[in-house]
Amino acid sequence: MQLSCPVCKSDLLQQGKNLRCENNHSFDAARQGYWNLLLAHKKRSKDPGDNVDMVASRRSFLDKGFYAPLSDEINRIAIEAMADTPSPNILDMGCGEGYYTTRLYEALTQQGLSPDLAGLDISKHAVKAACQRNKAITWMVASGADIPLPENTLDLQMVLFSRLMPEAFAKPMKPGAMLLVAWPGEEHLIELRKLIYQEIKPSSFDPANTLNGPFELKQKSRVSFQFELESSNDINTLLGMTPHSQRLSADAKQMICNQEHLTLTVDVNLGLFTRL
Ligand SMILES: C[S@@+](CC[C@H](N)C(=O)[O-])C[C@H]1O[C@@H](n2cnc3c(N)ncnc32)[C@H](O)[C@@H]1O
Ligand SMILES: [Zn+2]
Repeated sequence: MQLSCPVCKSDLLQQGKNLRCENNHSFDAARQGYWNLLLAHKKRSKDPGDNVDMVASRRSFLDKGFYAPLSDEINRIAIEAMADTPSPNILDMGCGEGYYTTRLYEALTQQGLSPDLAGLDISKHAVKAACQRNKAITWMVASGADIPLPENTLDLQMVLFSRLMPEAFAKPMKPGAMLLVAWPGEEHLIELRKLIYQEIKPSSFDPANTLNGPFELKQKSRVSFQFELESSNDINTLLGMTPHSQRLSADAKQMICNQEHLTLTVDVNLGLFTRL
């Protein structure tokens, strides 16, 4: 996929393991094969995004397949949306350690499509892990607030469980392109949240409100199913990848992990938006 220079926005040309723009800004590929396009002065912290432990927990949990039905549904919607686009340009913004990105690539190619797929995350730990999954995907460390892609590039952008930045997301998308957003529903991991919080407040979050302007909601659906965790090890791994665990004391964490069995509900909303 054509990338653009994070400094001056002109096109980056690849020569072997180097990217360079016409103004001589230059970026080397990391040893693992991803591009680091996050400018040091744009980092809000030294090590932004998910840390190494969260990435490891997410990878270990997702690789056990507990969320495969969710990933399958995401792929089904993406395939339907790209049915008339044989070689779609796609970005997974906030791709994390690449579970959904890689499964999307496999699903699209199985359908006979030739996607040009990129995964972007601000966490270098996440992208380092992601790029081991599939070398045909372009992986980059960058900020979703300043996506290093030229305007009018993307046919589809996917944003799963990540913060929404409407203007920044709209920039690299073609008019009429699709934005697929996933966010937790009211019942998502409710059993775990009940163990953690005294009171569960209903969420008023609706991406349609945030995205209104550059985007218009085309369709909304809900994926819900249950799965079983049958070891305290798996419960610990799930805790490690959710933001809830950061609010827990060591004792409370231990109490939850001492449970040997937990039935959990997945409840996720999927919104498909059109870039106006
Ligand atoms: C909850 S995780 C979801 C990861 C992946 N989409 C998944 O569902 O497995 C949110 C991700 O957003 C990334 N992130 C946070 N702020 C970001 C930003 N400004 N730009 C790009 N990625 C960001 C984090 O590093 C993290 O990997
Ligand atoms: Zn440049």
